[in-house]
Amino acid sequence: MKQRGSKKATQFTESVIREMTRLAQDFDAVNLSQGFPDFATHQVLKDAACAAIQGDINQYPITWGAENFRQAIAMDFSRRYGARVDESQVTVCCGSTEAMLSTLLAVLDPGDEVVIFEPYYENYGPDSIISGAVPRFVRLREPDWSFDLGELEAAFNNRTRAIIINTPNNPTGKVFTVSELEAIAKLCLKWDVLAITDEIYEHIIYDGHKHVPMATIHGMADRTVTINGLSKTFSVTGWRVGWAIAPTDLANPIRKMHDFLTVGAPSPLQEAGVAALSMPASYYTEMAAGYARRRALMCDILERNGFRFERPMGAYYVMTDIAHFGFQSDIEFATYLVKEVGVAVVPGSSFFNDRSAGRQKVRFVYSKRDETLLEADKRLAKLAARVAR
Ligand SMILES: Cc1ncc(COP(=O)(O)O)c(C=O)c1O
Repeated sequence: MKQRGSKKATQFTESVIREMTRLAQDFDAVNLSQGFPDFATHQVLKDAACAAIQGDINQYPITWGAENFRQAIAMDFSRRYGARVDESQVTVCCGSTEAMLSTLLAVLDPGDEVVIFEPYYENYGPDSIISGAVPRFVRLREPDWSFDLGELEAAFNNRTRAIIINTPNNPTGKVFTVSELEAIAKLCLKWDVLAITDEIYEHIIYDGHKHVPMATIHGMADRTVTINGLSKTFSVTGWRVGWAIAPTDLANPIRKMHDFLTVGAPSPLQEAGVAALSMPASYYTEMAAGYARRRALMCDILERNGFRFERPMGAYYVMTDIAHFGFQSDIEFATYLVKEVGVAVVPGSSFFNDRSAGRQKVRFVYSKRDETLLEADKRLAKLAARVAR
């Protein structure tokens, strides 16, 4: 009998993160696995989405995005970072997830290599397999999740077409510094390589750290694709609205891939996206302050319950070390936690190509209401009691 699934489909497993969310539901566990807020988005966004639907903006949008939304995206990026970007460079997609895949499909050919820092957001592995590329992994190491320049240099060669950078970073909370970005840029220029940067946590950043887009680093404007979206900044992960900002000559191939993958992102929600991007500066300050508060609460809870970790500089995850709890693996620990303690987390190995590097780690998410985090705290006492025995 012929093989029925494709070879590609056999090369990666189902998303572990989304599997943990399903287990959380089955065991009525507090879900600290998948990165979505359990609190409401801003009323301005809800009203704008409802008004767009009532106003009959319900048909296919322009494939690459409604013109006013693309203009708003280009203006926001230009104003914030002093870069000169216009709407012809923007492709609006079904979430930054699709923006990343459309971009990789648009720039990679089978056999090309793509450099990925690990631990990484789990989609990048399957994304590169789907686009036929060969991923080359470079390790980020604690305590500050920095990379070894020699290791990075060794990952580049004539087959390298792109490097994926996610800053602020999921799952580590790392924020890449200007000097790190400059070192990466130097290699991109040397090897004629594109940088594809996932900046979806751009506004969720702590302790005075600054987000610097790779596109603003000297020499990188015409070799960077910047990916972002509404999901995290505006707490609307279910809307599926994201975008890619690309050099003009790459916008067209990205738009073609996007067109044949999905045709377009939801038209009324793009309209609401225009309202989102016109929120005053205070919205961003308050949102970031809310996350700083949740980070403090999460870190307190983790400390109280015996976890070891580095405080995140950005995004809304904590990667913790669990070696001292005495479990064989991250999977055994996460399974115990969801079934017996009632808290769902993500096993660390799912963020590493070299699974062994994550065997004694799990990731917590804290984009949650205080009540949710405090309920997890209460339940985690059971873990502390088991360890004390
Ligand atoms: C680094 C990173 N990129 C992209 C996404 C998905 O974003 P979107 O909802 O825009 O597809 C996530 C979600 O957790 C993420 O952590």
